[in-house]
Amino acid sequence: MIWFDPDCPDAIFLDKRRVEGKRIWKSSAKSGTSVRHLDVRPDVVGDFTAMPFEECSFDLVVFDPPHLRHVGENAWIAQKYGSLPEKGWEPIVRDGFWECVRVVKWGGTVVFKWSEVQIRVGLVWKALGARPLFGTRVGKNAGTIWACFLKGAGDLVR
Ligand SMILES: C[S@@+](CC[C@H](N)C(=O)[O-])C[C@H]1O[C@@H](n2cnc3c(N)ncnc32)[C@H](O)[C@@H]1O
Repeated sequence: MIWFDPDCPDAIFLDKRRVEGKRIWKSSAKSGTSVRHLDVRPDVVGDFTAMPFEECSFDLVVFDPPHLRHVGENAWIAQKYGSLPEKGWEPIVRDGFWECVRVVKWGGTVVFKWSEVQIRVGLVWKALGARPLFGTRVGKNAGTIWACFLKGAGDLVR
């Protein structure tokens, strides 16, 4: 969803699921119910908390984890973006983030995307044990936050 070129040959997309042309029903009070097609076509199917990559493999890593935890698993939004457990989301997001730090090269960048719809981003920085160098400070409108970390600077020196 965030890629201008989803087939970019220089990028590797990892997700834990592969979905091809699944029909999902989007319902909203404003526009009623409509059918959408969902495609998730990762290059690598894997778990972001235990990535199948060597350390220091990439110049740039983008971490775009699920950000919802109060949502039914059949809701269209959960099917599209995935979801976190109601309780215990912190170690999942933290472990995924530190896996991104592990696989990015020293001097490389980890870009973190979050949406503050249900979980305030301050709680996320607390769960990570690290704060970005810079980024969006609060999620206005759609609640989206973009933040940049540099391996070897700020909190990412360990
Ligand atoms: C917000 S979406 C990412 C969208 C993606 N950046 C794009 O541009 O299409 C979050 C994704 O994380 C995946 N996910 C959730 N838990 C995961 C895990 N432990 N390992 C790998 N992927 C996971 C979900 O399947 C979901 O597709």
